[in-house]
Amino acid sequence: MTEQQFIPKAYIKTVESGKVAWESPSNIALVKYWGKKKDQIPENPSISFTLNNCKTITNLTFSKKEDESDFEFEVYLDGDKKDDFKPKIDTFFKRVEVYLPFLKDYRFKIETSNTFPHSSGIASSASGMSALALCLISIEKQFSAEMTDAFFNEKASFLARLGSGSACRSIEGDLIVWGQTEAVEGSNDLFGVKYPYKVHENFKDYQDTILLVDKGEKQVSSTVGHNLMHNHPYAKNRFVQAHDNLEKLKPILESGDLKSFIALIESEALTLHAMMMTSMPYFILMKPNTLEIINKILKFREETGLHISFTLDAGANVHVLYPKNESVEILEFIKNELVAYCQNGHYICDQIGFGAQLIKN
Ligand code: DP6
Repeated sequence: MTEQQFIPKAYIKTVESGKVAWESPSNIALVKYWGKKKDQIPENPSISFTLNNCKTITNLTFSKKEDESDFEFEVYLDGDKKDDFKPKIDTFFKRVEVYLPFLKDYRFKIETSNTFPHSSGIASSASGMSALALCLISIEKQFSAEMTDAFFNEKASFLARLGSGSACRSIEGDLIVWGQTEAVEGSNDLFGVKYPYKVHENFKDYQDTILLVDKGEKQVSSTVGHNLMHNHPYAKNRFVQAHDNLEKLKPILESGDLKSFIALIESEALTLHAMMMTSMPYFILMKPNTLEIINKILKFREETGLHISFTLDAGANVHVLYPKNESVEILEFIKNELVAYCQNGHYICDQIGFGAQLIKN
């Protein structure tokens, strides 16, 4: 498998103008992607649950232009023009131009909105970049001869990855693997693939309640954090561990062993943050309330035997994961004991989802 397969042959049609729209979800990693090589190639494999409610909705309007010398686009968030989003999209367009050679032939209007508040501290890069990638490949599909659904999804994931690594895991659901590993057949560094093995009923409707501990801008971006894995004293072992954890996850997912699942994902979350704290320069993204919540979760689990667990992404917010059939007691606990540690008492109820949806073609 190489990048070459995503360079299109000559287009068979041209279209003057049009509009496409997609909604694409966020995802939460169980085995974390942390560390990357050139061209958004991950240093280790990762696996995530696709989410259902935290989504980006993107409308992309395009019209043919005369001058093909540069990219031309405008970006709007919730109806407001956002020039500060432009550099990231410009970088993305540069990276994907060879795979989407029509980009300089059109003027684009990107209108986007999120189902979660922009200032929630929830990263919108996975949902945002995957929604934009899907809109672009939808346009390419109109110029092309037959494009299979499988190729469409692979290329969408491939393009999304070039925008933001974790975005490649948002195209489909419900469990997606990205990064080559012997543990998972078909896995590769270029795009995300559906987890191909048996998954126990216990994981079918898994819940994710996101506790918004800190809605501010992160002090250290993911991109900077990934780069600090170069020359990191523990990086080599960490990358080996991620492969091992994917291997260990297989029998756990098959048998529905929730206890082992919890141990593995919580260890992954804390390892991610341990990598940040042992980088040079080091940084800490957890807040005091992140630890308060984690300790309360551990205590509640010990007392009740319920299968509540936590994971973290690159920030202070806590994702509380649990099986649906325990949600009455666990939600009660979250409301009574954990919401007090959230900024303005804010939290979002989400659950495992099945990927992006076309709104308009
Ligand atoms: C901690 O995908 O946001 O959420 O590729 O630089 O855009 P870039 O990074 P990003 O990194 C996400 C890291 C993580 C773990 C994960 O989602 O696997």
